Amino acid sequence: MISAEGSTITNGVGAGANDDAAAGVAANGAASSLDAMEAIMRQGGGALRERMLEIERQLERVTAAAGAPLAAHASGMIVAGGKRLRPLLVVLAAESAGGPPAADGGADGLVRAAVAVELVHSATLVHDDVIDGAQLRRGRPSVAAAAGRKLAIATGDLLFSRAFAELARNGDEAQLKALSEASSALAEGELLQREDAYAPRVAVERYLRRCELKTAALFEAACRLGALVAVGGSRALADALGAFARRIGLAFQLLDDVLDVSGPVERTGKARGTDLLDGTVTLPLILARERDPQPADFDLSLLQSPEQAEQLCDRIAATGALNEARERALALVAEAKAALPAVLPGERATLLDLVADAVVERYR
Ligand code: IPE
Ligand code: IPE
Ligand code: MG
Ligand code: MG
Repeated sequence: MISAEGSTITNGVGAGANDDAAAGVAANGAASSLDAMEAIMRQGGGALRERMLEIERQLERVTAAAGAPLAAHASGMIVAGGKRLRPLLVVLAAESAGGPPAADGGADGLVRAAVAVELVHSATLVHDDVIDGAQLRRGRPSVAAAAGRKLAIATGDLLFSRAFAELARNGDEAQLKALSEASSALAEGELLQREDAYAPRVAVERYLRRCELKTAALFEAACRLGALVAVGGSRALADALGAFARRIGLAFQLLDDVLDVSGPVERTGKARGTDLLDGTVTLPLILARERDPQPADFDLSLLQSPEQAEQLCDRIAATGALNEARERALALVAEAKAALPAVLPGERATLLDLVADAVVERYR
């Protein structure tokens, strides 16, 4: 278990997930990827687990330090858990690049970088749930659902600003640049998604660009930051690790979008077609439109109810578009893995391979 509240990588979703039935659904859905994360922890040994625990403690300290009532929502978001995939990437990338400098006995710089990445991710999720009108997050009511839009916006802002305050303590401009570029990309990705909402035609390339911005960029930044805090982090290694993370981040978003259409609700904790009902044009829909002789049947602006969204999911699935989208994601993961061994010592390459597998496990 990573935190006393019980969450994340080694212990399923957060303690709050047990509090209500809807959350239990989300907990089941997350089980396979959490198993995959636990496998990584076991293989990484006690030192990795201890490092992740220290990150967890620091996340809780940082969010609890804000004044009420925002602290309660910021902490609630953190304590609710999540897979901690991005901080794990920071740690594994740093260890792959020689680990933190010997002078930094407690690996404080590495912990701060990992905490900063998870805070940016959490901030984005709080804001994303305002934008998407999502009710559930990490097996609990989203901050937007529990406290309203205004507090959710302020909570997201707080998490963002804490992230940069934390990273600034490392005193390294390159690290700040890596994280700020990723968070600008995230915002740009969300804007692009809004711009394309309900669009009758979105090119695959434009969709992939959106996913790179809103998801892959932060995965890449996690690995780059890991390399930057490490003692032997060369530019070439940072590039190689960043390219690996970018591919698995892209695959992660593609599979998330497939899951929205394929469900089922017991796996995902949300109704099938939630993205579609919200006007979000994702890869399964784009591919289905290409494959169907009546692309006008896939007009999102005609959707009026969750039931109609589910029917559209069935129509998309019938075209074979889900398989194609899934295959694209799996190919990205395979590419990411194939590029790694050449640049890394065996042990860490194996763990990063397992992270890539965890991305796919999330889909199974
Ligand atoms: C969710 O990310 C947002 C997407 C990029 C699809 P995660 O699935 O990593 O969220 P947590 O941190 O485990 O809650
Ligand atoms: C992921 O987008 C959130 C960001 C990367 C900003 P989604 O809207 O697809 O993620 P979920 O499905 O809400 O977790
Ligand atoms: Mg969302
Ligand atoms: Mg989604």
